Amino acid sequence: MGGVNPYIDKPEFRKPDRPFRITFHIEETGEKKSFAVNPSEIPYGHTGLEGSIMDLAEGAGIDIDHSCGGVCACATCHVKVREGMKSCSKATENEEDMLDTARDVEPDSRLSCQCVPDGSTDLIVEIPKWNKNLVQEGH
Ligand code: FES
Repeated sequence: MGGVNPYIDKPEFRKPDRPFRITFHIEETGEKKSFAVNPSEIPYGHTGLEGSIMDLAEGAGIDIDHSCGGVCACATCHVKVREGMKSCSKATENEEDMLDTARDVEPDSRLSCQCVPDGSTDLIVEIPKWNKNLVQEGH
């Protein structure tokens, strides 16, 4: 599922215009997966903003949880951008409000469906092992 949330400000971002590499660290499995981003192939999937970390993860064959369908209305897609944050779109107030509901938030935290790198540098992104939904559904 993809789309836009009509109840939030439209995020400003610039899609990547040059190839770069994004490396995902999947905390749950300890796996590291590196993916070469080709701007002409964006969007890779149908969830989140075009060229967002979530979109790039889909291209890399990694499924990041996305309860709201990638429209900035949950926090299940929380990731930590360990390197390359300077190339990422600025978080909107709506994104920051949603991030406030996530667990274990750090300065590197972003919602992967809203964070769009511009391709000016490579990225390292950590995907936390917990899942807010699973925690909630477990009770
Ligand atoms: Fe819900 Fe990103 S998937 S905010």
